[in-house]
Amino acid sequence: MYCTRNLSDSVYWVGGCDRRLSLFENLFPIPRGITYNSYLILDEKTALIDTVDASVSRQFLENILHTLDGRALDYLVVNHMEPDHCANLEELMLRFPSLKLVGNAKTFGLMQQFYDFDLSERMVTVKEGDTLSLGSHTLRFYFAPMVHWPEVMMTYEETEKLLFSADAFGSFGAVNGNLFNDEVRFEQEWLDDARRYYGNIVGKYGAQVQAALKKLPGQEIRMICPLHGLVWRSNLDCLLQKYDLWSRYEPEEQTVALLYGSMYGDTENAVNILACGLADAGVKHIAVHDISSTHVSALVSEVFRCSHLVLAAPTYNGGIYPAMLNFLHDMKALNLQNRTVALLENGSWAPTAAKQTRALLDELKNIQVLEPVVTVKSALKGDTLSQLSQLKDSILASLAG
Ligand SMILES: Cc1cc2nc3c(=O)[nH]c(=O)nc-3n(C[C@H](O)[C@H](O)[C@H](O)COP(=O)(O)O)c2cc1C
Ligand SMILES: [Fe+2]
Ligand SMILES: [Fe+2]
Repeated sequence: MYCTRNLSDSVYWVGGCDRRLSLFENLFPIPRGITYNSYLILDEKTALIDTVDASVSRQFLENILHTLDGRALDYLVVNHMEPDHCANLEELMLRFPSLKLVGNAKTFGLMQQFYDFDLSERMVTVKEGDTLSLGSHTLRFYFAPMVHWPEVMMTYEETEKLLFSADAFGSFGAVNGNLFNDEVRFEQEWLDDARRYYGNIVGKYGAQVQAALKKLPGQEIRMICPLHGLVWRSNLDCLLQKYDLWSRYEPEEQTVALLYGSMYGDTENAVNILACGLADAGVKHIAVHDISSTHVSALVSEVFRCSHLVLAAPTYNGGIYPAMLNFLHDMKALNLQNRTVALLENGSWAPTAAKQTRALLDELKNIQVLEPVVTVKSALKGDTLSQLSQLKDSILASLAG
């Protein structure tokens, strides 16, 4: 049975939710599930904006057939060729023999790599800024290369001022009937997942997100309709400002995330003492994460939130504790930058983790390492406790400055 929502009298949400999938891209935990959004516009011509993942195909088809109510589908706009949005292309082509696919040259190149169906007579190839009239609605296409994949474009509907933004502005999380941002408590319920989605899925491409943001028709957007998560129809500046910060690798908050690895508990002990000292001095919204038990995608998300990081880890077989090393590789892969970092290492005979961490941080852009670097030899003693206190003062001075 169909399950749809109206964006307006002539624009419908026809997507679906998957609450069974445990790992998005087979990598990222999604305990709140995931939404695959697709939008259908009914006018003199009918147009579908993107399709959905194979896991929700059945629901999706019921939604479309109900909404079309016997009409044919004239256009399918493919803003993004990733399979989580394209699983239903062939099915739709079979059901609607006159359906035309709208994409750019790169879209169709990728389509031919993924699928075998015959595209001749089906393709409407658009260039940046081209328009497509559906009657009283007009679609305009903005290319957003590498805002996930090279072929990505955004489609702007000029009459109702709707931006179909592909993966940009999306989030992990299945919508609970409440599809619109003004139907939920975004800051409490969605922001963490929106940030984690941004950081891990789009985070590497900050420059490309900035380029896309500059092209958009600014004040003229009434709704932002991404391919995952909530549809935004109020307070758009809240989301646009977050995207602007994240894509410039600027922190959301002046606060500290302490990320530690620890086998026997002594590095953990030092981190807890430091966190309490910072809190005593008035720092709020501190995060402390055991990197062995916190998924790296959540650690990346904290880096996007916090201005200051404390990285604390034991030395392990002459190297950096493996979970910390893995996190540092992710920081590099995602192009993370502009953060102030404090280092604490532990080791029982030849501590070298901090030196090696510093070398990896040197490969990132605009990372400031605070002094002193604290070396714990097994467990905290009087002298290392006073070093830790100096490091706390150094973090506080940096936060204040
Ligand atoms: C497999 C393994 C390898 C280690 N390699 C080193 C090392 O290369 N250099 C060193 O100084 N300590 C090494 N250590 C010791 C730990 O770094 C040290 O005991 C540290 O205090 C542990 O901190 P924790 O209490 O936070 O787990 C190693 C420990 C283990 C279990
Ligand atoms: Fe994608
Ligand atoms: Fe996606």
